[in-house]
Amino acid sequence: MNKKYPTGLPDKYIEGWDNLYKKQIEKPLNELPTFLTHYALQEFYFFTYGQEIQGKKAIDLATGDGIDACFLAKLGYTVTAIDILPSSIEITKKRAEALGIDDKINVYLEDMDKFVLKRESFDVVSAIQCLQYLLEKAPAKLEELIRAVKPGGWLLYGGNVKPHFKTDPPLRFITMLELRKALKNWTIFSLAREERLMRPGDKRGYVWAVAQKPSKK
Ligand SMILES: C[S@@+](CC[C@H](N)C(=O)[O-])C[C@H]1O[C@@H](n2cnc3c(N)ncnc32)[C@H](O)[C@@H]1O
Repeated sequence: MNKKYPTGLPDKYIEGWDNLYKKQIEKPLNELPTFLTHYALQEFYFFTYGQEIQGKKAIDLATGDGIDACFLAKLGYTVTAIDILPSSIEITKKRAEALGIDDKINVYLEDMDKFVLKRESFDVVSAIQCLQYLLEKAPAKLEELIRAVKPGGWLLYGGNVKPHFKTDPPLRFITMLELRKALKNWTIFSLAREERLMRPGDKRGYVWAVAQKPSKK
């Protein structure tokens, strides 16, 4: 296999993201696209509005263009953001700087496969559109993320479900049933699914979850 990118995947899976982030890096700060955050992040914001954030820690795995990580930092969390692409690290830092929150974000070039999250170490763990890239290791990583949430903390998850365009090797998507089982005993604020027509003939299925871990008694 390839390898321009240090993942266990064909480069073509990652190259599109790299090119996208590189284009964004070239833009002046005031022209950075301000796409909406992922649904899970938006809903999390609604569900937790008004709660105390001071001193709380969040992590955003495979942060991509850093929009979700910056959103959490803007809310007041101290955020760790990781991604395997240098272009992602650069655009996330640039976005944080543009938003004046660079002191709230630590951005690291890391492979999420090797980056082990300690048990009960974060108040918010966000994994949006990324676990599928770990192929058969995705379910075990989800378990690790669940353990990493502090009691009373939150998991924000986003992924695809079928229909999805065919890939070789096939990406490993977490199903709604797996999410429900993994989040047993948690308070599930949102476990949702939608299909979206991206362009003619290209329908994608999305699933996301916003859930709170029980507090310790
Ligand atoms: C579909 S994008 C999602 C980005 C962001 N979370 C979002 O929802 O906009 C996938 C991201 O996963 C990153 N990625 C893929 N494999 C990775 C790995 N093993 N470790 C860290 N990041 C990875 C890619 O570089 C890319 O930024």
